[in-house]
Amino acid sequence: MRRRPHIILSADDFDLDDVIKIFDITKDLKSRYYYGERYVNILNKKIIGLIFQKPSTRTRVSFEVAIRQLGGESIYMSWNELQLGRGEPIKDTARVLERYLDGIIARVYKHEDLVEFSRYISIPLINGLSDREHPVQALSDYYTIYERFGRLKGLKIAFVGDGSDNVSNSLLILGAKLGVEYWIATAPGYEPPKDLLDLAFKYVEKTGAKIVVTHDVEKAVSEADVVYTDVWVSMGQEHEREKRLKDLADYQVNTKIMSLAKKNAVFMHCLPAKRGEEVTDEVIEGEHSIVWDQAENRLHVQKGLLAYLYR
Ligand code: CP
Ligand code: NVA
Repeated sequence: MRRRPHIILSADDFDLDDVIKIFDITKDLKSRYYYGERYVNILNKKIIGLIFQKPSTRTRVSFEVAIRQLGGESIYMSWNELQLGRGEPIKDTARVLERYLDGIIARVYKHEDLVEFSRYISIPLINGLSDREHPVQALSDYYTIYERFGRLKGLKIAFVGDGSDNVSNSLLILGAKLGVEYWIATAPGYEPPKDLLDLAFKYVEKTGAKIVVTHDVEKAVSEADVVYTDVWVSMGQEHEREKRLKDLADYQVNTKIMSLAKKNAVFMHCLPAKRGEEVTDEVIEGEHSIVWDQAENRLHVQKGLLAYLYR
């Protein structure tokens, strides 16, 4: 049992047991949703705050809808419209908000700010993306992969692009815990943070997962079941744009790259995508792409997660 099961800052905060239970709840809620039972009262009017320092379409809307469909209420707060934007300390904000709210979902620039938040609250806190990780994205993506292939163990997932990307970092950690084969093809200097890689390798010994970081994109994608990419320039990295486009130019997912993967391979992207940069229009709109089903599952899996946390 984890020490603080209600704090989810990293994909490392999900144990295998949590993931299995969340997936079971998700499957049940999703099928009930498809049979017309869209509203299930689990949150019983609990009020969950969303504090966002950066833009969001999927995370914000899927969480707000998830909360409402589970019988709760949400309050969206832009960081800069709170006193946080004028420099009120995080620790003061956290101690006030925990007296009003039943939970917080936060999207921040600096991961350390979330850690600071977590030190001062006892209500659930969920990372809705930081510069270091995007754990709820990874959770949802493994559900999508599981739904598609009926298993996770032994599947080869090739992440092509910025190997230090927040989404990839969470896919890496969770993949190592779930026993997948996770390959990262990236340019020199864009490898995952060393501490996350060390952590992933620690889990590999227990779960039989395989983790490979390479500069050889063809080797990474060869016979892959899933080809995944994310933007080369993440939110907050706009000042590095030119350099990143140049450095990562050889790591684009295009038709040629997709043709090296298995015949029934799927293409995934957390979105938003930059067509012509990390992926071509042909691939994202093509027959292998499952990005819309992937985005839809953010709603169902987050309902599963909330139902699990507030059960
Ligand atoms: N994938 C994802 O988190 O998208 P948003 O930035 O739109 O929330
Ligand atoms: N890596 C991207 C993910 C967006 C969902 C970013 O941080 O901008």
